[in-house]
Amino acid sequence: MHLAVLLFVSSLSVATFALDNGLMRVPPMGWLAWERFRCDIDCDHDPKNCISENLFMDMADRLSEDGWRELGYVYVNIDDCWSSMKRDDKGRLQADPKRFPGGIHKLARYMHDRGLKLGLYGDMGTHTCGGYPGTTLDKIELDAQTFADWEVDMFKFDGCYSNATEQEQGYPLMSKALNATGRPIGYSCSWPAYQGGLPPKVNYTQLGEICNLWRNYGDIQDSWDSVLNIINWFFENQDVLVPAAGPGKWNDPDMLIAGDYGLSMEQSRSQMAIWAIMAAPLFMSNDLRTISSGARSILQNKIAISINQDPMGIQGRRVVKEKSGIDVYWRPLSKNASALVFFSRRNDMPYRYQTTLGKLNYTAGSYKIYDVFTEKTMTLKDSTTFVVSVNPTGVVMWYVSAPAKRNLRQFYRGGRLQGSVFDDDENAVPPVFL
Ligand code: GLA
Repeated sequence: MHLAVLLFVSSLSVATFALDNGLMRVPPMGWLAWERFRCDIDCDHDPKNCISENLFMDMADRLSEDGWRELGYVYVNIDDCWSSMKRDDKGRLQADPKRFPGGIHKLARYMHDRGLKLGLYGDMGTHTCGGYPGTTLDKIELDAQTFADWEVDMFKFDGCYSNATEQEQGYPLMSKALNATGRPIGYSCSWPAYQGGLPPKVNYTQLGEICNLWRNYGDIQDSWDSVLNIINWFFENQDVLVPAAGPGKWNDPDMLIAGDYGLSMEQSRSQMAIWAIMAAPLFMSNDLRTISSGARSILQNKIAISINQDPMGIQGRRVVKEKSGIDVYWRPLSKNASALVFFSRRNDMPYRYQTTLGKLNYTAGSYKIYDVFTEKTMTLKDSTTFVVSVNPTGVVMWYVSAPAKRNLRQFYRGGRLQGSVFDDDENAVPPVFL
């Protein structure tokens, strides 16, 4: 009896410690400086591209004026190399005064005035990866309070120059410290990436309780090789990673690099499609001032975004890996819908892949298909053989609506048989949001 009470009380207290900041119920979206702009601090010679308040204000202007914000891209995230090499006389971090003369607080206000949010970067070791001041264990509360005072909305906590023991203390401590400020601050943890990304070293149950998102794996670079390497790792380990994700807690395969130099249009669509299947955070790292219209339309594809942002928040899986070099990915979506991606690893020519929905585990019925990138629709029975033509390193992506069901209410309306009526709501194509 006493034991039962004790167990009940202790389970309550465990529940209290879970990260419950109500944030990021769908994967966060926005822009992040690192992959494209790195640690360019040479504002004298490269004023347009150096890490400075101007760069972040420019990106904020583009997000709010070029249709990004309305699609959900609201975070403007500063990465490494923003700070001064020295803390201030009260021991607080401070922005580099030359490159951020207005300071971080003013930049946060700039974002908020435009319906955007500001993200900031720190590191739980002695130094950031770029060599700037870190947030050692003794500084965690002070720094969390400083970020809250600046009205920061998201914080990425990197792990350079710290060891496994320090990380075990530091990541949960920062979670508590951020919550204790009373300001909702989305919390991105790089912890698993520093511990190989897999159990037993990584505890995904704990991460889901203390972080909103986490980097599992190495840094993305501006190349198809890098994207493919990330895709391979995430799906080879899907049995570990898929159950870890859900509303408020996401695996982060790193930034979208469409609009940069390394990916073709096919490859940009592939990254967008597979990141949507993975329920991945969508942080672009590109130059929104000069982005091509091709890359922009891929990143602004409403259906790909709505698949990524599905409220059930179930991360998708690879369901087929063919010897021919075709992979099929599948993600269950709300309203009994789903998404399918056919991806080609081939390097020769478009490949005609033949299958049926039944072979892809769909139950009997008639499905409406919406092709995400060509915007064509069709209807397919589970048993119908179909062929998709998948370009080298490219994808075909489908939104698949629930099978048409007989609507019994309508069917028997007025107590008389009305004929064969299908429920159009359930079978609607597709959920264009906003
Ligand atoms: C690490 C992180 C990157 C980036 C750099 C900054 O490599 O994984 O995402 O933040 O540090 O130095």
